[in-house]
Order: sequence, then structure tokens, then C-alpha cells
Amino acid sequence: MFFGRGLPQLVCALVILLHAGSAVGFNSTSGAAEVRCRERERQALLMFKQSLVDKQGVLSTWGSEERRKDCCSWTGVKCSNRSGHIIWLDLHDKFLNEPISSLKRLKYLNLSFNSLSGSLPSLLGNLTSLRYLDLRFNEFHSVENFEWLSHLSFLNYLDLSGIDLSKVNNWLQVVNKLPHLTNLQLHYCNLLDVVPQPLPMINTSTSLVVLDLSSNNLTASMFQWLFNFSNTLVYLDLSENQLQGLIPQAFGNMIFLEELSLWGNQFEGGIQKFFGNMCKLRLLYLSSNNLKGMLPEFFGNLSGCLQLTLETLDIDNNRFMGPLPDAIRNFSSLKLLSLSSNTLNGTVSNLIGLLSKLEELDISNNSFNGVISEAHFSKLSKLKRLTMSSNFLSFNISPDWIPPFRLDYIDLQSCKLGPKFPKWLQTQRDFSFLDISNNEISDSIPKWFWDLSPRATYVNISSNCIYGILPDLSMKFSSLLLGIDLSQNKLEGPLPLFPANTNVLSLSSNGFSGNISSLCSITGQNLQLLDLSFNQPSGELPHCVASWPRLLILNLAHNHLFGEIPSSIGSLNSLSAFSLCNNNFSGEIPGSLGDCTRLELLDLNHNNFSGLVPDWIGGRLGSLTFLLLRSNNFYGDIPLQLCHLTNIKVLDFSNNSLSGNIPWCIHNMTALTRRESLVDEGRLARTALFDKASIVWKGTEYEFGKNLWHLRLIDLSSNKLTGEIPQQICSLFELVQLNLSRNQLTGRIPKDIGQIRSLESLDLSGNKLSGQLPLSMSQLSFLNTLNLSNNNFYGRIPSSTQLQSFSAYAFIGNSALCGPPLTPACPEDEKPSDGGGSSGFKVGSSMEICLYPAIQLHEVPPQQLEGQTLLDGGSTWFGGKSECYQITKKVVVLRRITLFGVPWEVGSKCLSRLQPSRTQLLC
Ligand SMILES: *[C@@H]1O[C@H](CO)[C@@H](O)[C@H](O)[C@H]1NC(C)=O
Ligand SMILES: *[C@@H]1O[C@H](CO)[C@@H](O)[C@H](O)[C@H]1NC(C)=O
Ligand SMILES: *[C@@H]1O[C@H](CO)[C@@H](O)[C@H](O)[C@H]1NC(C)=O
Ligand SMILES: *[C@@H]1O[C@H](CO)[C@@H](O)[C@H](O)[C@H]1NC(C)=O
Ligand SMILES: *[C@@H]1O[C@H](CO)[C@@H](O)[C@H](O)[C@H]1NC(C)=O
Ligand SMILES: *[C@@H]1O[C@H](CO)[C@@H](O)[C@H](O)[C@H]1NC(C)=O
Ligand SMILES: *[C@@H]1O[C@H](CO)[C@@H](O)[C@H](O)[C@H]1NC(C)=O
Repeated sequence: MFFGRGLPQLVCALVILLHAGSAVGFNSTSGAAEVRCRERERQALLMFKQSLVDKQGVLSTWGSEERRKDCCSWTGVKCSNRSGHIIWLDLHDKFLNEPISSLKRLKYLNLSFNSLSGSLPSLLGNLTSLRYLDLRFNEFHSVENFEWLSHLSFLNYLDLSGIDLSKVNNWLQVVNKLPHLTNLQLHYCNLLDVVPQPLPMINTSTSLVVLDLSSNNLTASMFQWLFNFSNTLVYLDLSENQLQGLIPQAFGNMIFLEELSLWGNQFEGGIQKFFGNMCKLRLLYLSSNNLKGMLPEFFGNLSGCLQLTLETLDIDNNRFMGPLPDAIRNFSSLKLLSLSSNTLNGTVSNLIGLLSKLEELDISNNSFNGVISEAHFSKLSKLKRLTMSSNFLSFNISPDWIPPFRLDYIDLQSCKLGPKFPKWLQTQRDFSFLDISNNEISDSIPKWFWDLSPRATYVNISSNCIYGILPDLSMKFSSLLLGIDLSQNKLEGPLPLFPANTNVLSLSSNGFSGNISSLCSITGQNLQLLDLSFNQPSGELPHCVASWPRLLILNLAHNHLFGEIPSSIGSLNSLSAFSLCNNNFSGEIPGSLGDCTRLELLDLNHNNFSGLVPDWIGGRLGSLTFLLLRSNNFYGDIPLQLCHLTNIKVLDFSNNSLSGNIPWCIHNMTALTRRESLVDEGRLARTALFDKASIVWKGTEYEFGKNLWHLRLIDLSSNKLTGEIPQQICSLFELVQLNLSRNQLTGRIPKDIGQIRSLESLDLSGNKLSGQLPLSMSQLSFLNTLNLSNNNFYGRIPSSTQLQSFSAYAFIGNSALCGPPLTPACPEDEKPSDGGGSSGFKVGSSMEICLYPAIQLHEVPPQQLEGQTLLDGGSTWFGGKSECYQITKKVVVLRRITLFGVPWEVGSKCLSRLQPSRTQLLC
């Protein structure tokens, strides 16, 4: 690898050399045959080398020694046979960190895939003889000046892919000035959309043959310029831009076009007839647009001369409909046909079996139905890749069928291949990928299957009803990495030995038994995923676990495993998901688990773990998103350090013996305060397929797979927690489920609980909570599960569409709640109309307040109320044990009181004493 020293020195050196006069050069052809190269150019290269740090000796052939004198034989250098000038400098992929320029006669410069950085030197513009310039994929700064390019007037070939050209607003004008340019590659250059200023079309002598402007977010305003080249273009790639509307008719004029790539845009509408007349077109990529129309009509429109030439047709991921028509037979040159992910329905014409050149067929993810027979494949002897998964097809194929093809890639998920294990697979001895999951196969696996294709890298026969006992697999399959998915079948017997090179192994939901230590046959260190959940093996977690340093996902949930977690677990420092849920593991969580710093999911639910919840979890496992300790014997406080777990989405400590307070700093769990957008999508894609956990959601335990990532819940129920619910909980705006039931919590519901707008489920039942329900609860508009039963709440249930829709069970066991949905109406609701005199009572009059017997009064014994300032603003409750009070004259300034959940304005009044009575409320 090279590390550049000063860029300025280098550029200066080269410029001086260039100025030094070209006539002084050593004439190789007229001179000694053994030394061909020109001395001046040799010196230029040597100086260039001097400015580099060539640690790997890539340029070791570049030297001043006598035997290295011929610079034309140096690595990456070629000279003209006639003149001896260096005409070719190919240092691609050699990690030159500094730009190079010099060598006036240079015709070919290939610096692609270096790590060249800095600014693209405008001195390149002095290489006026260049025909080929390939700078793609370096690390240059965003280019600001593009004028130099217009000096390279001999340029045929220009590739600046991957270089940021967003600041070059005249790229199009510059390119137009290169009269010999035939091949222009500006893939992924952040090109500005074509500026609408008039383009110097008149001067355009350029005749582009190859044009790649893919991945640039260009819009349809570039078409005007593009269609200048209709008569010359042979290859055109406009994929991954922002092109919208109908595909312009003018494409039809590109009569020499052989390859057209328009995928990844927003083209709409159908495919028009002009395509059929593009008689040279061989490859057509239209996937990932918004195209639509009936498939028979689509093929009808393509049915001109095109149908004889078209080799590749890719219309994946659009909105085409209808059946695959018989007309498909006319497209006799097709090698690749990809129709996946549309809404195609109806049948698949078996005339597709006549496309004898077909190598790849993909009709997956549609709604095709009907039967696939041998006829569908009759002439497909060249077929290598077959993908028909996820339709409503069923295979009806004779057990003796010998297919004409030998497939490499077989994806026939959900194709009703069963009930017998497909015997024709026996002829497919070369496959590397096989997915026959979910095919209603109810059979055992034939013996030949395991020896079929030693080079297989992925075998998925999951979700069938396959039964039987597996043989020793340790010597099968020789590929470097191997994925095997046998999950969701009826396989049984002791766990077999698996190949040492296993990379992904899913055995979940079968009846495997025996000792889990059989898995130690996987010695190849490549294991990344092991899912043995929902089986019956027993034993302790073996120490060989520690020999899988790349393990990302270890799921042993729902088995009969026991013992402690071995401390060697700490060597799994790639581990991101670890589930031992529902086994008989015991002991404490070992401190070495703190070395698994990438853990995102830790599921120890339903075991016999005990001890304190380790405080280092907060400090060391900062990536934890799911922390599940439900139904164990953990005791002690919830450590405050857990508040450092800022990625937590699901925290389930339910059903342990935890005591102390709910951590006040709970609002630090920031994943519950922010929206999903901050989630690492790449990570999601990587593990969503495999992460699994059983989570109690609104009272029922579910197995969550990829949806796991959308859950947000805190469940601390059934512990011995005391103290109040911290106000800070109201900042967990994104929390969906909160369960604090069956503890010994006291105090009120935090008054801003309504801020947790996304809350769907709230269970605070079985505590000693008291006070009124905060009015803000009426803002919880997504609430669909509520349990506040068995507390000491009182007062009116706030009114909202949501709160009144729950049954009374949500509120029972609170002696003094009133109002809908409870039947005891709040007292004031029953008061007779008093002719509008609700604004209180007169000085000197008396008033009796009768509190409903159901209301539990507390906080102030009645004696203390006598002669005191009773109520002054706010929503203070006054009380004692008796139900009714007579209020007469004197003392108290009453401004606003809240009775039974509604505010009352009563003005300034004097009250003197309260006396028990049994009359109704009058005021
Ligand atoms: C390089 O080109 C610029 C103009 O583009 C010119 O001024 C300069 O003299 C040239 N340098 C050499 C070394 O030819
Ligand atoms: C090199 O030799 C060729 C052929 O003899 C001649 O035409 C040319 O002028 C020479 N060039 C120089 C720079 O001496
Ligand atoms: C130049 O000479 C080399 C070796 O003799 C030969 O392989 C190459 O084809 C020649 N190139 C040209 C353009 O004549
Ligand atoms: C430059 O080198 C790369 C890598 O070998 C090659 O793919 C590319 O075609 C070369 N560019 C040109 C213009 O020959
Ligand atoms: C294209 O636009 C999208 C969204 O506006 C952006 O995410 C993407 O990075 C852009 N791509 C390029 C190559 O500019
Ligand atoms: C296919 O889908 C279209 C549009 O939804 C519908 O009209 C047609 O009946 C369907 N055809 C079949 C064979 O299911
Ligand atoms: C809460 O988070 C802040 C910063 O996000 C941090 O400084 C503070 O230590 C955290 N508090 C607790 C108790 O974890």
C-alpha cells in the first residue's frame, strides 16, 4: 500500500519535467534495442515513485539500476512499439494515494480502484494525448473545476464513476466539447440535474456509443440532450435515477441500441409498441418502476422484430397483471426472464418450456396459480437458475421425470411439491442453492439427498412435514460456508453431527432430542447462526460454544437445557442475539457475558436464574435493545445503571422478586423517546430474519420474528416494587405498552401520562396507587388495553372516546371511581337543575356536600378540616371517613374546587364547619 507524501511537490516535479522539452527524449527505436523507453519519461516516473511510500513494493520493478533501465517493462507501464513513448500507465487497484500527471504522449491512464484522494488535479488537462481516462472509484474530493477536461480533445473513453461531480454545473457542456468521446461512464457521480440553460448542441460532434449515467437522481429534463445520440447509442444505462412519466417514444429511435437499463426509476404506464421495433435490443431492464398493464398485452407490444433478439427481460417489481401468455414462445432468444414481484395471476403458459436458450427464469412473488407440469420445462436444457417461489402454484410431475436441465439455483418455496419428497431432485447434482421450504412434503428425506450436491452452500427444506431421523452429516457438503434450514418439520431422534464448516443452522421446531453437545462437531469457526429453539435436547450449554467466535445468533429457547451459563460465553464477542428462554438454566448471570458487548437481544425469560440484576449490564451492553428476564428469581433493586441502555425497546422483568423503586432515570432509555427513523436499517435487514423472542404482548405470549423490531414495552409486573411511578416515565413518548401491575406502588399516576401518545396498553392493576386519574389520560387516543383495577383511585374517570370504551373491569376494585363506563354516576351528574345558580352559595348560607359512599376519602381526617382553609385552587380533595358534610359559613376562601372530577367555580365564600350528614349534594 502507498501513502502519499506531499501532493504539491509531486505535481511540481512532473510539471517541470513536462516543460523540459520533449525533443531531448531518448529514441528507443533508433537506439539500443534493450533500452526502449524515453529517459525523460523514465525520470518522471522515478520521481513520481519517490514521492510515494511503497510499502508492499508494488513498484519494485521501477528503478534506476542498469537492469531496470527499460521503463517500458516496468509494472503497469506500456510503451509505443514505434516511438518508445509511454502510452499506457495502468496502476489500477495499486492504492496510489496521490494523483499523477505528466507524460504528454500518454494515451491510456487507468487509475481505477486506487485510493487516490485529494483534489482531482487540473494538470490532468495537460495529458492532451489521452484516449482513455479511467479514474473510477477513488476518493477524490468533490470536483469543482471541470474545464481541464475540455483540453483532452482526443478522449474516446471517460470513466469518472464514483467521483462527486455535484459542484460541476457545466458537466454536460464540457462533455459536449469532446468530439471523439464515444464511451462516457458517470455512474454514481451526484450529477446535477441537467440545467435548463440552452445547451451548445450545435457544437456537439460527440457520438456517444456507450453511456452510463446510472445512480444520479437525474430527471426527465435530461432527455432532450440524450436523444441527440439516438443514432449512435449501443449501450444506455439510466438506472437508479428519478425518471418519471411514460417511457418516451423517442427511445424507439435508438435503432442501434443493444442494452437498455431503466430500472430503479419511477416510470409509469404501460409498455408501448415502439419497443417491439428495436431490432437490435438484446437486454432490457425495467425492474423497480411503477409500470403496469396486462402481461399478454405487454408481450403483444414487444412482438415486433425485438422478439427474435431479446435475450434478457427483467420487469421485476412493477405492477403488471394477468397470466403469462402463449406468446412467450416467440421470444426464442431469451436467456433471462424475470417477472418477479408483480401482481401477475392466472396460469403460466407451458409454452415457456420451448424457450430452449433460457438460462434463468424467475416468476416468484406473484399470484400465479394452476399446475406446473413437465411440459413447462420440456426444452429448457440450459436452465441454471429457477425461481418460482411464493405463488399459488402446484407441481404435478411424474416421479420418474428426468429434467432436461442441471440447475445451480433452485428456489421453489411454496410450490406444493409434496406430499412425496421430489424424486427428480436426484438428477440435480450441481446445485449450490436449494429452497424447497413450505411445500407440503410429508415424507422422510431420501438417503441420496445428503450426497447429492457436495458443493451446496444453502439447503432449506423447512416448513414441511418431513419426518425421520437424520444420519451423521459431518462428512457431507464440502463448500466453504454452508447454511442448512430444517426448521418446522417433524424430524426427531438425537441431534446428528453436522459438517464442521456449517455457517447457518436452523433446526427449530422439530423433535430433536439427545445431548446438545453433538453440535460441537461444528468446529470450523464459521458458525454465525444456531437456532435450536422448540426441540427437546437436554444437557448443559457445552463449552465448545466458545469456539464459535463469529456467532451472531444463538437461540436455544424452549428446550430442556439446564445448568449455568459457562463463563466462556464471554468469548462470543460478535454475539448479537442470545436466547435461553424457557429452559431450566440456573445460577447468576456470569460477569463474562459483559464481554459480549454487541448483544442486542438477551432473552433469559422463564428459567431459574437468580441473584441481582447485574449493574454492569448498563455499562457494558450498551447495544441492548431487548432485555428479557421475565419469570426468574432475580431480586434486589433495579440498578440505576440500566438507564445507560439507551437503545432499549423492550424491557421485561416481570415475575421476579425485584424490590425498591422504579429507576427515576428511566427517561434515559432514549429508544423509547424517539421515532423509528434512527434505527440502523442495515442491521435490521441482517438480523430481522433470524431474531426471535417470545414476548408477552397485551397479556398473551407471542413468538415475534421480524416484527420484534417494532415493539416498545416496559413490563415490571409481579415484583415487589415500591414507591411512586417516576414522572420521568412520561417522556417515553414512543412507549406502546406499560405494565407495572402487581407491585406495591403508591402515589398517583404521573399527571402527564397523556404525553405517551403512542401508548396502547396500560396495566397498573394490583398496586396501592391512589388519587384521581389524571385528565391527560383522555389524550391517550391509541389506548386499547387498560387495567387500573385494584388500586385506590377515586373521582371521575376522565372522558375520552378511549377511556369510556373499556369495560368496568378495567376499573373495579377502586372504591371511589365514578362516571362512565362505571355505573355509579358521579354525584354531580345526578344533581337536579338549580336554575343556573351553580355558581355557589351565599355568604351565611349553608351547604351540604354529600360524597358518594364509594368515594374513598383520605389524606385529611375530618377533624382537621374544621375551621381550616379547605380548598384553595387546584384539585385538592378533602375528606375523612364519613360520606356527607354540611358546610356552613366562615373561614375558607374557595375559588375553584374539583369535585368528582369536574371543576367547580364557586367564587369567594366563607365556610366554617363541616358536619357529617346523610343528605344529598345541594348547591
Ligand atoms: C498545462 O496546461 C495549462 C493550460 O491548460 C498550461 O497553462 C500549462 O502551461 C500546461 N503545463 C504544461 C507543463 O504543459
Ligand atoms: C526516433 O526515431 C525515429 C525513427 O528512426 C525518427 O523518425 C524520430 O524522429 C526519432 N525521434 C527522436 C526524438 O529522435
Ligand atoms: C508491441 O510489441 C509487443 C511485444 O513485441 C507486442 O506484444 C505488441 O502486440 C506490440 N504492440 C503493437 C501495438 O504493435
Ligand atoms: C481499468 O482497469 C480496470 C481493472 O482492471 C478494468 O476493468 C477497466 O476496464 C480498465 N479501464 C479501461 C478503460 O481499460
Ligand atoms: C438520490 O436521492 C435519494 C433521495 O432523495 C438519496 O437518498 C440518494 O442518496 C440520492 N442518490 C444519489 C446518487 O444522489
Ligand atoms: C387476475 O387479476 C385481475 C385483476 O385483479 C382480475 O380481474 C382477474 O380476474 C384475475 N384473474 C385470475 C385468473 O385470477
Ligand atoms: C442519562 O443520560 C445522560 C446523557 O444522555 C447521561 O449524562 C446521564 O449520566 C444518564 N443518567 C443516568 C442516571 O443514566
